[in-house]
Amino acid sequence: MDDVFRAVKVTDRVYWVGAVDWRLRHFHGYLTARGTTYNAYLVLADKMTLIDTVKAPFKKEMLDRIASIVDPKEIKYIVSNHSEMDHSGCLPDLMASLKPEKVFASMMGVKALKEHFHLDGVTRVKDGETLSLGNASLVFAETKMIHWPDSMFAYLPEDQLLFSQDGFGMHLASSERFDDEIDSSLLEYEGAKYFANIILPYAPLVTKLLERVAGLKWNMKFIAPDHGPVWRKDVDKILGLYAKWAAQKPAKKAVVAYDTMWQSTAMMARAISEGLEAGGLAVKVMPLDVCHRSDVMTELLCAGAFVVGSPTMNNQVYPTVADLLTYVRGLKPKNLVGAAFGSYGWSGEAIPQIIDVLKAMKVDVVADGLRVLYVPDEAVLVQCRALGADVAEKVRSNVG
Ligand code: FEO
Repeated sequence: MDDVFRAVKVTDRVYWVGAVDWRLRHFHGYLTARGTTYNAYLVLADKMTLIDTVKAPFKKEMLDRIASIVDPKEIKYIVSNHSEMDHSGCLPDLMASLKPEKVFASMMGVKALKEHFHLDGVTRVKDGETLSLGNASLVFAETKMIHWPDSMFAYLPEDQLLFSQDGFGMHLASSERFDDEIDSSLLEYEGAKYFANIILPYAPLVTKLLERVAGLKWNMKFIAPDHGPVWRKDVDKILGLYAKWAAQKPAKKAVVAYDTMWQSTAMMARAISEGLEAGGLAVKVMPLDVCHRSDVMTELLCAGAFVVGSPTMNNQVYPTVADLLTYVRGLKPKNLVGAAFGSYGWSGEAIPQIIDVLKAMKVDVVADGLRVLYVPDEAVLVQCRALGADVAEKVRSNVG
């Protein structure tokens, strides 16, 4: 065989035919520091079926991988489990060039594909429907909002394999395709980052989905997501982590995120973190000039406290802090204790503005916020440390 790009065997019937994007660093607001993969899968059934596609610029890589085992024109069905363009980007071209007999999507998927690509001719499959592939089959389960309204799972009972699109995935470019080939702490970190930055707003739906999947009694030897490795060694690990992350049970951990103009707010952050630490919490101090919003969000997953500091600039929250608050608010973390702090020069509106946002996020805000004119003296730093201790005490009482 002299192909450059080759399919990777998952089971005797299923091959990975996706693409590795080593260069990607930004995925709508999320710092993808380790790149990503766009996973597509070929099911070698009587009706040769492609599960999802890849981002448009990677079409040749995917087609070459398919061609390493079969003529792409043998594909009879394409299933679009998720219409976001990192998975549907090649669909219009494939429909035009391969002319598959059928393309399947959920009801919302049919709508989304039409609206994105002005595509007609996509067949709707219903929640719970079974599609015969001849000598194999696919059972569909809608997973609305995980990650888009169109999303669905496709289960291949003959191989006990779940195609889970964004669910159970992660942004991780690698030469390895399976969970047992990659360090487990890296998988847990990148899986958590993906959950915190993509899935978290829909955490209550994840809990319900896990219950539903358990009720379906699908045996799952493999979970094949659309990003990151295929789970084959430790399917229960990622299922258990999703249950934990969706529950958002707070830990004895605080995240202190701040920016600073002349180091005064930074001095306050350090004093508050000392109080948090003395109060028994693990602390992550994240200066926003060097920490990305998506890394802050990752640390906030299952944390017990979110403490936010900002100088006041032109009567406003400092821009990096405003950016973070907008981002975090949209992702809807729960069960957080919070506080606000910062230095100001003449008006100091940033602190009440932060508190308003924290309250809108249903964060349990401790005190009215701590602000200081210009540079904190020792007495103010003692107050900062005390604020940290107060936050820690509240977290401890929540955690029990
Ligand atoms: Fe990987 Fe929601 O797209």
